[in-house]
Amino acid sequence: MSMKLLEGKIVLVTGAARGIGKAIAIGCADAGADIAFTDVVKDENFVNLENELNSKGIKAKGYVSNAADMNSSAQAVEEILKDFERIDVLVNNAGITRDALLMRMTEEQWDLVINVNLKSVFNLTKAVQKSMLKQRSGSIINVSSVVGVSGNAGQANYSASKAGIIGFTKSIARELGPRNIRCNAIAPGFIETEMTKAIPEEARLEWAEKIPLKRAGQPKDVADLVVFLGSDMSSYISGQVINVCGAMLT
Ligand code: NAI
Repeated sequence: MSMKLLEGKIVLVTGAARGIGKAIAIGCADAGADIAFTDVVKDENFVNLENELNSKGIKAKGYVSNAADMNSSAQAVEEILKDFERIDVLVNNAGITRDALLMRMTEEQWDLVINVNLKSVFNLTKAVQKSMLKQRSGSIINVSSVVGVSGNAGQANYSASKAGIIGFTKSIARELGPRNIRCNAIAPGFIETEMTKAIPEEARLEWAEKIPLKRAGQPKDVADLVVFLGSDMSSYISGQVINVCGAMLT
């Protein structure tokens, strides 16, 4: 009898309608988890993912919610707890870029990126905390970035938000560790999604060439680590930042 890695677990993924979040939802479903996911609008991607997940014979449901908004996040989590009864794994994936050199960066670009990327992690973690404390277990996985570690010209807002996620992750690991709640951050490098399609092809190829593994990452490369960090295989791993970057950042 083989047991799938996430069988019996409920996973919540934010910003899952496409890209890395979608791959995480599918990867966790394939590992046997039931999936609750959020995104900002109920568009074609959203409905397609909900259908694809449900066709796998697990329980899955999408919730329209803005992760940057505290009330909207609390409300989504409340509904999810009604529908699924518990949340074992929270994956804070929702994120955006508004790249600009500091000279040109507006207050709006700064605030939006900090709120969607960093405040969202506070909003969701706070909302699931009570139920994880009650069940005395949980795994929180925050999607940071290699540029949160290294910094990047033209991405001061994004890098600051991703570095902030790392500080938050380490603090929560220390604060909630005694209650058997783990918290880790993932730092992807260059992953092929809609987000990175915004970068001109020439620059993308040049980047990929500089990566020791000689290729861009795929969303599934990140999802595989999420499955591991969500599972009991990683029960002694907490407070860490793990790069998924083909050795781009060592
Ligand atoms: P993407 O743009 O393809 O997908 C992001 C998803 O998040 C979209 O479905 C979007 O609607 C949703 N979203 C945006 N704002 C939201 C909000 N306020 N509330 C709820 N959902 C929201 O981006 P991608 O590439 O899949 O990125 C996912 C995460 O991975 C982000 O946090 C990003 O910063 C991070 N990341 C991506 C890298 C890459 O190379 N693609 C590298 C390092 C980190």
